[in-house]
Amino acid sequence: MSVIFYFLGLFACLFLVFVFGFYYIWTIFFGVPYLSSDAQIVSDIIKFLQSNKINNKGLSELNIAELGAGTGTLAFALAKYGAKVKAVEINPILTIIMRVIKILKRAKTVEILNTDLKKIDYSEFDCIVIYLYPELLEKIEDRVFSELHKGSYILSNTFAFKKHKEYLKIGKLNVYKVE
Ligand SMILES: C[S@@+](CC[C@H](N)C(=O)[O-])C[C@H]1O[C@@H](n2cnc3c(N)ncnc32)[C@H](O)[C@@H]1O
Repeated sequence: MSVIFYFLGLFACLFLVFVFGFYYIWTIFFGVPYLSSDAQIVSDIIKFLQSNKINNKGLSELNIAELGAGTGTLAFALAKYGAKVKAVEINPILTIIMRVIKILKRAKTVEILNTDLKKIDYSEFDCIVIYLYPELLEKIEDRVFSELHKGSYILSNTFAFKKHKEYLKIGKLNVYKVE
């Protein structure tokens, strides 16, 4: 009997590694693989949103999306300040990890979506936070800037959009304002 459990456990682990590997390689070719934002970026984003009202709302009232959320580094940091965050991630294993973190952190204001970020309706957000390669930014640029309401912000770790100029640069953080 214990041999059966051993093989079932082994099979489950191999399956999870396979699914994670599949999506990891897929995102290398078609998007951007998982890499977590560092503490400096997290702190710069929080400070920016604390000192700038968006659509007349403070950080705790904001409706934010983290597109390509990974393990939700930005989403959970923002939720600590009361923001409502939609964490969108294509890799199902990373999504499961986020769901566990959400329970452990009791982050009630984080909603996790396991889907392609290109399928999201961006219009409902005051702010979008991203850490995505230029190839993927290029694919969403037109839609993001046309769907977000005037006065909304996009905060991008490291990488820049092609057609729009930053409103502000804070270290590695590119800040865009929808005009
Ligand atoms: C560089 S990581 C950033 C993780 C997190 N946002 C952070 O800053 O720590 C990019 C993430 O985007 C995800 N991703 C890539 N293409 C995607 C897509 N089309 N839809 C949703 N997520 C995607 C990857 O799986 C990866 O977890």
